[in-house]
Amino acid sequence: MAKQRALITGGSVGIGAALADVFAGHGHDLILVSRNREKLEARGRAIHDRFGIDVVCLPEDLTDPQGSRRLYDTVAGRGLDVHYLVNNAGVGVYGKFATTDLDAELKMIQLNVTSVVGLTKRFLPAMIARRGGRILNVASMAAFLPGPWMSVYYATKAFLLSFSQAIDYELKPNGITVTTLCPGPTESEFKVRAGSERSQLFDAFVMDAPRVARVGYDAMMKGKAVAIPGVRNKLIPLAVRVTPRPLIAKLSHRAARPTSNS
Ligand SMILES: NC(=O)c1ccc[n+]([C@@H]2O[C@H](COP(=O)([O-])OP(=O)(O)OC[C@H]3O[C@@H](n4cnc5c(N)ncnc54)[C@H](OP(=O)(O)O)[C@@H]3O)[C@@H](O)[C@H]2O)c1
Repeated sequence: MAKQRALITGGSVGIGAALADVFAGHGHDLILVSRNREKLEARGRAIHDRFGIDVVCLPEDLTDPQGSRRLYDTVAGRGLDVHYLVNNAGVGVYGKFATTDLDAELKMIQLNVTSVVGLTKRFLPAMIARRGGRILNVASMAAFLPGPWMSVYYATKAFLLSFSQAIDYELKPNGITVTTLCPGPTESEFKVRAGSERSQLFDAFVMDAPRVARVGYDAMMKGKAVAIPGVRNKLIPLAVRVTPRPLIAKLSHRAARPTSNS
């Protein structure tokens, strides 16, 4: 069988880097994407040396409205086939909506939502022509509930879950599956980048990125629509279904507010 290739956005650190390890461990070639060229290429070399697979590193800023088109053109221009598209790159913005920075939030929407739609749209035609392909979109437990203190971030992840489940249904007849990975708090650079170090969200039940990545990879390979790592996390969508929405917002606010000593 010809070697298959995965494109992973945000593949330099955190959950994306852990996913890159899992794909490489299964013998897949890789295209890794993130902004910081040095970090990305160091990661790419380390994976190549450890697993002996081919790794192409493509630095790109996916908050740039032209980013997903430029990335697609580069991949197509090099004649690289993408069998697995992993839309993982994402950031959060912590704080009450009235006081958070609008520019940061608009860039977050561009990265977490618009670039995912753009990349999926562009890489799909070749998958459809091949009658096969798998897409893994990294959302969050945030997809299931409103999130005071990170309202726009939670909404981007709700978009991803809804979008991914809908196109998973549409694309099944084409032999393509779309899996939404919904991690809870996970050890990575996310907390600091989001400015959410003060939040209680990361005080307990934090999972490690390799474990989250394995759950995502296995679910994608089985063609599952939604993957939730961790038993406790699995209970949340069930609880949300039977709880009035205003009460969910109240509990979600409590869970995400700053710790009392911050
Ligand atoms: N950690 C958690 O608790 C958690 C929980 C649920 C869901 N998630 C989701 O999991 C995904 C991965 O997050 P993580 O925790 O692994 O975060 P992370 O450690 O901060 O890694 C983020 C990755 O995305 C890249 N990236 C950031 N901005 C980018 C941009 N504008 N263009 C291209 N690449 C960019 C980063 O590299 P550069 O900075 O070099 O670009 C890095 O490789 C995100 O979608 C996040 O929302 C995380």
